[in-house]
Amino acid sequence: MNRLQRALDTLVERVSTPAPIVLVDVMQDNIERMQRIGEQHGFDVRPHVKTHKCVEIGRRQVKAGAVGITAGNVGEAEVFAAAGFDDIFLAYPIWPAGAKGERIRRLAESTRLRVGVDNVGAIDALADAMGDEPDRLQIVVEVDCGARRSGAPPALAGDLALAARKRGLVPVGVFTYPGHGCTSRDARQRAAQDQLEALTTAVRSLADVGVTAEVVSAGSTPTIEFTTGGLITEIRPGEYVFYDLNNTRLGACTEDQIALFVAATVVSDWVPDQVILDAGSKALSREGSLERGFGGVAGTRAVLAKLNEYHGFLALPAGELRPSVGSVVPVVPNHVCPVVLNFEEYIVTDSTGTSLQRWPVDARGFLN
Ligand SMILES: Cc1ncc(COP(=O)(O)O)c(C=O)c1O
Repeated sequence: MNRLQRALDTLVERVSTPAPIVLVDVMQDNIERMQRIGEQHGFDVRPHVKTHKCVEIGRRQVKAGAVGITAGNVGEAEVFAAAGFDDIFLAYPIWPAGAKGERIRRLAESTRLRVGVDNVGAIDALADAMGDEPDRLQIVVEVDCGARRSGAPPALAGDLALAARKRGLVPVGVFTYPGHGCTSRDARQRAAQDQLEALTTAVRSLADVGVTAEVVSAGSTPTIEFTTGGLITEIRPGEYVFYDLNNTRLGACTEDQIALFVAATVVSDWVPDQVILDAGSKALSREGSLERGFGGVAGTRAVLAKLNEYHGFLALPAGELRPSVGSVVPVVPNHVCPVVLNFEEYIVTDSTGTSLQRWPVDARGFLN
């Protein structure tokens, strides 16, 4: 990861910290590698744009071969639709409350829109929202594969698909999210197996009621390595575009594949074995724990032991070099997705640190 520090050293006079720095060559490799994995296994790649919320990065993913995008909420979908993305899957059990029904109807007019459902109430509400054109909206039934988040029991997927069809919506398949694969290295493989079993049951359940599952959609960066083609038609990885410390710890990426870090300046160093950085929870978000810390400095063993809003407490293990006040260090977040919410733009460079562009975080602030 020292290459992050090298790029930063070249760039440093041109940025104000804290700032999210993207190494575009590393990111591009990540994008292309995921496409190759898709090609090898015969599934489509539909990246989750919540990780970057950036139109330019979405365009690069589509240019590399992604079939479309996954969005996490209606606002995100609207931002990307307005930028010309015309194939969007809202992989979330949508409830079209308030103005959302009308917004979904409008989105479905301009894009091929698929939405997740896991209950009959939402199906009825979506059909009502679509007025006399329910067939514009494609439905993908969410099933739970062990993450115990959202998703119906897989064997009931057919009932939901049938309910959607009866209301004139178009059921096209099933999806699941193997979120329980994020806890340990072993958990990744087990969650991928759970995912396959759940999707197999769900596809059969649709077939039993006469609905063909054209879409069989699977997660997620940590489990991709154990995901096989055949039944599964598409994957929805998000974090892979940048990766982070969590994925490194899980063995889902190497340190060299990390494409985003937060540049932070050492601003105070009075306490022994600690320096203070100008990146706190308002820059890094508060993902972490006392045991793991809240992010680490690339190329060192130093981790952020504590965060205040604007202060990062960088604990220095014995023998670790103490960065002096004024020096700028690359902080790799534990979980990259919440970090981008805190910034209006990315500073985009490459591993040499010589080029510099600024890309807006277009869907920042679109939270519903
Ligand atoms: C429904 C769904 N699909 C895909 C993803 C992408 O997962 P990851 O960012 O781990 O690749 C997520 C992440 O939360 C998700 O909730």
